[in-house]
Amino acid sequence: MDLTIRPRRLRGSDTLRRMVRETRLDPASLIYPMFVMDGENRVEEISALPGQYRYTVDRMEEELIRLSDAGVDKVMFFGIPAVKDEIGSQAYNAEGIVQRALRRAKKDFPDLYLITDVCMCEYTSHGHCGMLCGCDVDNDKTLELLSMTALSHVEAGADMVAPSDMMDGRVRAIRETLDAAGHTATPIMSYAVKYASSFYGPFREAAGSAPSFGDRKSYQMDFHNRHEAIREALLDVEEGADIIMVKPAMSYLDIVRDVREKVEVPVAAYSVSGEYAMIKAAAANGWIDEEKVMCEAAVSVFRAGASVLLTYYAKELASCIRSGKIG
Ligand code: PBG
Repeated sequence: MDLTIRPRRLRGSDTLRRMVRETRLDPASLIYPMFVMDGENRVEEISALPGQYRYTVDRMEEELIRLSDAGVDKVMFFGIPAVKDEIGSQAYNAEGIVQRALRRAKKDFPDLYLITDVCMCEYTSHGHCGMLCGCDVDNDKTLELLSMTALSHVEAGADMVAPSDMMDGRVRAIRETLDAAGHTATPIMSYAVKYASSFYGPFREAAGSAPSFGDRKSYQMDFHNRHEAIREALLDVEEGADIIMVKPAMSYLDIVRDVREKVEVPVAAYSVSGEYAMIKAAAANGWIDEEKVMCEAAVSVFRAGASVLLTYYAKELASCIRSGKIG
């Protein structure tokens, strides 16, 4: 065969493949989402997320040690309060679950970078992401609650806040509140492009945060839309977001790529609970190789253009990166 160009030449050995690899991963890009709950001396496995647990503050140390042993130095806290009410008042209580977890983690693990999810849905009795006005969430009133929540997190030791509520104008509101309190150096990672997705199912079981009526479609995005993602991303950059997140990751990699091309700030992607649960379930049935699929899925997110990945597989991925199983 008279073939001058043979792409297979560069695939001939592992040495060569590694040399020309286009996507490289680093454990420093991984963030581990972690559930902390009110109570004492309890660790509960989340049934829809095998291998993931809810920890009381006095027991979270065991997981934080495992994380640092695995080389993961960034965690995102989700709080599960003992009591919920109409206005989610435990979200901005200085003695709330996330605030206490932050103080403890800051003291015992000073090298850990602490990020918090800022939202009302885990704290409201109705499970919506803000304050209700009739059957809908009142955007502007919710901004005050979110700002108070973000500030209380930073005061308790959060290094970065990540609003996930999808209210309009919340990045600006939070930025102004943090700045007025002197926290001008605390970055905001905005869940700017968050779709109304059924991939969040297991998370809602984990956090007990499924809406008690209706759905989140009046604030989270319609998954048929692509231009809207750019609009949301650009708006949040304008409002002061330091990192733009796309969520979910898998099934939305086209959006990760689009956003990457349109904004100048780093792009993060959140590989959500349903993505993890699907891999776990198929692997438990012996239908796929869990580690290989996990690696392939993670690489695809970085290849699409993300520079940060939030994933329940953070520890396992960090080990695969360190042992050279993936780039
Ligand atoms: C809070 C929030 C959710 C997730 C992250 N932050 C749930 C939701 O919007 O219903 C989902 C995370 C996951 O599925 O892993 N609003």
